[in-house]
Amino acid sequence: VRAVVLTGDRTVEVEQVDDPVLPGPRGAVVEVERTAICGSDLHLYHGGMGTGVHLGHEFVDRVLEVGSEVLRFGAGDRILVSGVIGCGRCQTCRSGVPGNCEANRTAVFGSSASLPGGQAEAVAVPEVDEFALAIPEGLSVESAVLLTDILPTGYLGAQRARIAPGATVVLFGLGPVGVMALQSAQLFGPARILAVDREPSRLARGAELGAEVIDASGGDAVAQVLEATKGRGAASVIEAVGADQTVSDAIACAAPGGTVSVVGVNLNPAFPYPMGLALLRSLTLSATLAAIPATWPTLVPLLDSGRLTPDAVFTHRLWLSEAPHAYQIFDARQDGVLKVLLDPKG
Ligand SMILES: NC(=O)c1ccc[n+]([C@@H]2O[C@H](COP(=O)([O-])OP(=O)(O)OC[C@H]3O[C@@H](n4cnc5c(N)ncnc54)[C@H](O)[C@@H]3O)[C@@H](O)[C@H]2O)c1
Ligand SMILES: [Zn+2]
Ligand SMILES: [Zn+2]
Repeated sequence: VRAVVLTGDRTVEVEQVDDPVLPGPRGAVVEVERTAICGSDLHLYHGGMGTGVHLGHEFVDRVLEVGSEVLRFGAGDRILVSGVIGCGRCQTCRSGVPGNCEANRTAVFGSSASLPGGQAEAVAVPEVDEFALAIPEGLSVESAVLLTDILPTGYLGAQRARIAPGATVVLFGLGPVGVMALQSAQLFGPARILAVDREPSRLARGAELGAEVIDASGGDAVAQVLEATKGRGAASVIEAVGADQTVSDAIACAAPGGTVSVVGVNLNPAFPYPMGLALLRSLTLSATLAAIPATWPTLVPLLDSGRLTPDAVFTHRLWLSEAPHAYQIFDARQDGVLKVLLDPKG
């Protein structure tokens, strides 16, 4: 099968790789129908984490073959698969939170050689009963792809920010995850959402979606937020970038008693957490990897009823064979790109 392979710093190629094989009796082999590129893939694309990885953790597919112990799915079923999986057997995995697997077997598709990713024609899915969902009738393929990672992530970012009706929210980042967080935040009834980014096209889209946008390109995002909130800041702050700067700024924008909810990936062990400020302002800090399957029972009805309409996040639809170009424009934020959908048929 063909797969998108990381072959060097800022280089991916579509290569012929070995066909996936059944990953044990509780696994499946699936044929990929559509797959998307994520901001998290760019962390790998930027290099330093080894090459040879088959990328991709956001994919929707048709089951080709299941192992002998699989109960919920069979060949021919259309399923979406959580981008993050775990052992599939512990209580936490079974409650849909593989990011906190008690057996320490949390794994992200397409981030290491041990779990090849879904930007490919076909892929192996371990523990499929726990980490996949049959695609409900009427759900678009775009919404299905978004349910594999970024919609759950954005939704959890908003939910964990504890937004009260009438509250002011600040959101850092209007990338694809930020847009999911913006649309999710609106479900909780805030009076205002201030959204911070530094790309003109992303700010314009945030304004279209109902946010008051703040351009951070001058480096004074916090001052602008404080000015817009009469010096108070916001009771709920969502961080969907992951840079040291934006995490710091998010904390600095929280009003006394406020909550800062981080879903941007920041793995800096030396991150300078402002303990004194957090103590004096009684802040709550939340950070999480998306508990993807646990959000499906909430998000599927919201998509089904049209209360959430995230599909417009896809700005580009390309063939899998065009992945090198897709990564390049997504990384350089060229061509107004927000989210790229790849079709493995071409
Ligand atoms: N927690 C999870 O489970 C999870 C899941 C998926 C993605 N993520 C993470 O979420 C983050 C966002 O993902 P994405 O796909 O939207 O990525 P992205 O890179 O497309 O979006 C980041 C946005 O932040 C903006 N930005 C960068 N620096 C800024 C600054 N200093 N001030 C203001 N804005 C700034 C960029 O212009 C961009 O629009 C990434 O860190 C990604 O790894 C986390
Ligand atoms: Zn992702
Ligand atoms: Zn587990």
